[in-house]
Amino acid sequence: MKTKPIDLLKERLLEIAHLETLLKLSKWDQEVMMPKNASDSRAVAVSLLSGIIHGKFLAIERDGLLNELKKEADSKSIKGKDAIIIKEVFKQIERKKKLPESFVRELSEAASKSQNAWAQARKDNNFKAFLPWLTKIVELKKKEAELVGYKDSSYDALLDEYEPGMTTKEVEAVLQDLKSFLIPYLQKIKESKVKVNTKKLLGKFSIPEQYEFNKYVSEKIGFDFNSGRLDISTHPFTESPHMQDVRITTRYKENDLMYALGSTIHETGHALYEQGLPEKHFGTPLAEYISLGIHESQSRLWENMFGKSIEFWKFFYPKVQKEFPSPYKSIKLEEFYRIINKVSPSFIRTEADEVTYNLHIIIRFEIEKEIMEGHINLKDLPTIWSAKVKEYLGVDVPDDSLGVLQDVHWSIGAFGYFPTYALGNLYSAQIFAIMKREMPNMEKKMAKGEFTEAGEWLKKNIHSLGRTYSSGELIKKVTGEKLNSSYFIEYIEKKYKDLYTL
Ligand code: CO
Repeated sequence: MKTKPIDLLKERLLEIAHLETLLKLSKWDQEVMMPKNASDSRAVAVSLLSGIIHGKFLAIERDGLLNELKKEADSKSIKGKDAIIIKEVFKQIERKKKLPESFVRELSEAASKSQNAWAQARKDNNFKAFLPWLTKIVELKKKEAELVGYKDSSYDALLDEYEPGMTTKEVEAVLQDLKSFLIPYLQKIKESKVKVNTKKLLGKFSIPEQYEFNKYVSEKIGFDFNSGRLDISTHPFTESPHMQDVRITTRYKENDLMYALGSTIHETGHALYEQGLPEKHFGTPLAEYISLGIHESQSRLWENMFGKSIEFWKFFYPKVQKEFPSPYKSIKLEEFYRIINKVSPSFIRTEADEVTYNLHIIIRFEIEKEIMEGHINLKDLPTIWSAKVKEYLGVDVPDDSLGVLQDVHWSIGAFGYFPTYALGNLYSAQIFAIMKREMPNMEKKMAKGEFTEAGEWLKKNIHSLGRTYSSGELIKKVTGEKLNSSYFIEYIEKKYKDLYTL
């Protein structure tokens, strides 16, 4: 019997997905295990394998298989899950086809050199040295936007890669609401009489003991260690070669237990999403995550909404006190809770609390949108950056290393990536609200160490659906409303009113 075209498509996708597992494994290895001297030979191997995968992906289209299927999906003679697979793959290939290979190579080479130049410039606190590289990258990203095409803003074309279907206008609207709330709210917190001393939590915690504790927490909240690992790397990340091979990393500070724990919980949130994707659809978009924003919503939900709640720590804190008696034994749960939720404006996003975090994103979003639309002269960036940080966060940027040069994203051309961090926070608050409505005892259960109900809910309503819906459709389906800032704002107001007696 002749294989049906849709099954042929799935076969090819599966082959590509299996090859990609090795690429992802290699990426994990580079960050966690690989000896320094292996980097050159590895780069060659990775580039060869990437080329093979790219070729196989485009071949799906070349012999007419995909076009034939697309017609059937459009005319509804193929429906349901199969139609979703066809339309998604078609969309992905269309975008790839618009970028000539010579352009992709030029961008990737420029990005890699620019990243090195940025790292040196940040070290030397020398924006001028980075400026020619940034100029080159911006020029290429503008060209990419033109090649890909867009309706309103060139920024749409870039955003679409990370948050498919979301427009600049929509992002702008929700972030504007958020900004109008956050700036005066932060001012109120600053004026509060409540003072919190985070140094109280410092001590000396052996790394192997910390590792065991991180592993314990991660497993307790649902990470399946038979289908994943927890390791150490400079920057925490999640890499998922397969839903049964999900790797997360964290980093440790000997004097600060919470430093690693926060990022382990965050990465566990990402990992639960990956482990919850449906294995039977592996290789197809039905087993892929929806967008970076939705991915981040899962990590932020666990890190913040659950992981910085009093209920969460009602269960875990006695264990912290037992394992790490100095200094925790003498600090009461309520005080601990206050300390881990301290609000304090800083220069760097990655160290920001829940209240100020989104302001960092808004600053970068506003600037990079202006850059892409050509309203900013790049040499003015340090001044523009510092002025916004002062206006939104109320702090003076001491130098460009801690200011405009702090972050890697622009150097590698990842314009349009940043808003997904804020979208993640907004999605997570909206999802959290509906979870509490549907499971009124969820938080009480967490206080007793029962996390299964929440985990199963997320798996059923989000993870197991893969890319069946776009992020906009999913949030509407799950919460009954389109994405908006009000849930996050309510969440912040309710939580910090008590913490800062506002
Ligand atoms: Co994340």
